Amino acid sequence: MKKYITNFKIVGKRVFNETYFSLTLQHPEKLPEIAAGQFVEVEVPGNKQVMLRRPISIHDVDTDSNTLTLLVQVVGKGTRTLSEMSIGETLNLVYPLGHGFSIEGKKVLLVGGGAGIAPLLHLSKCFSAKGIKPVILLGGRSASLIPVQKEFEPYGTVAFATEDGSLGEKGLVTQHSLFPADYDHIYTCGPTPMMKAVARHALSNGIECEVSLENMMACGIGACLCCVVDSDEGHKCVCKEGPVFNAKRLTNWINK
Ligand SMILES: Cc1cc2nc3c(=O)[nH]c(=O)nc-3n(C[C@H](O)[C@H](O)[C@H](O)COP(=O)(O)OP(=O)(O)OC[C@H]3O[C@@H](n4cnc5c(N)ncnc54)[C@H](O)[C@@H]3O)c2cc1C
Ligand code: FES
Repeated sequence: MKKYITNFKIVGKRVFNETYFSLTLQHPEKLPEIAAGQFVEVEVPGNKQVMLRRPISIHDVDTDSNTLTLLVQVVGKGTRTLSEMSIGETLNLVYPLGHGFSIEGKKVLLVGGGAGIAPLLHLSKCFSAKGIKPVILLGGRSASLIPVQKEFEPYGTVAFATEDGSLGEKGLVTQHSLFPADYDHIYTCGPTPMMKAVARHALSNGIECEVSLENMMACGIGACLCCVVDSDEGHKCVCKEGPVFNAKRLTNWINK
C-alpha cells in the first residue's frame, strides 16, 4: 500500500483530562483507504529534543471531510508537545503505516485498555459497516482513564471494567462477565499484560485472536529493526509486518 508524507491541518482538538487529548487533522485532498489498526508517524514540531517521529494509531477516519483523528496519551516529551498544539497549526504525517486488523467473524469481541482503545473506534465502525455489532470491552484503572466512551455506542455493545469500580464492573477486562462468552474472534490492543491474558484465553479456547503491538519504534517502515517482536517465525518488524498479528504467530511472546 502506498505511503504518504504530507501535512495535515489541525481542525479539531478535545482535551479529555490532564492525560488524554485528541486531534482531528484535515488533508486538502481525498484520503487513501485506511485499515483499522494502521497508524501514522507524527513529526513533533518545534521540540529539538524530539528527533524521531512518534507512532500513533488512527482512531477515526471521516472520508467525507478528509479528516482523521488521533487519540493520544501524554507520556513524555513528544506527546506533551503534541498536546500543546492548537487548531490551525500543521502536523506532518507519514501514513497509513503497518497492517491493520482483519474484519472477520460474526460473534466478535474487541478488548481495549489505556491508549490501546484508540484503534478500536475505527475497527468498531468497520464491523458495523459489515452489519456486525461487536461487544466492545474497554478497561482502565479508573473511569477518567477511559477517555472515549459514548463514541463507541452506535457501533456495538459497550461495556467497561475499571480497577477501582468507578465505571462498569470492578476488576480487569479479563474478569468482566462479558469476557468469557463464545466469541469466534477477539481483537485486542492495550497494555502488554492485558493483551497476553486476552490472547492466552483465546488460544486455549480455540478463538481466533488478533493483537496490536505497541513496541517502541523509530523509522516506522521496516528499515531500522528497532521494533522487532520474537514471533514463532523469528523476529518480525512490528511497524511493517504488524502492528496487528494473529495470536497464533506469537505464542513465544504470549508465553514469555
Ligand atoms: C503502532 C503504535 C501505535 C500507537 N498508538 C498510540 C495511540 O493511538 N495513542 C497513544 O497515546 N499512544 C500510542 N502509541 C504509543 C506512543 O507512540 C508513545 O506513547 C509515544 O511515542 C511516546 O512518545 P513521547 O515522546 O511522549 O514519550 P518518550 O519521551 O519517548 O517516552 C516516555 C515514556 O513512554 C514510554 N514509551 C515510549 N514509547 C512507547 C510505546 N510505544 N509503548 C509503550 N511505552 C512507550 C517510554 O519508555 C518512556 O517511559 C502507539 C505506539 C505504537 C508503536
Ligand atoms: S521502527 Fe524501524 S524497523 Fe520498525
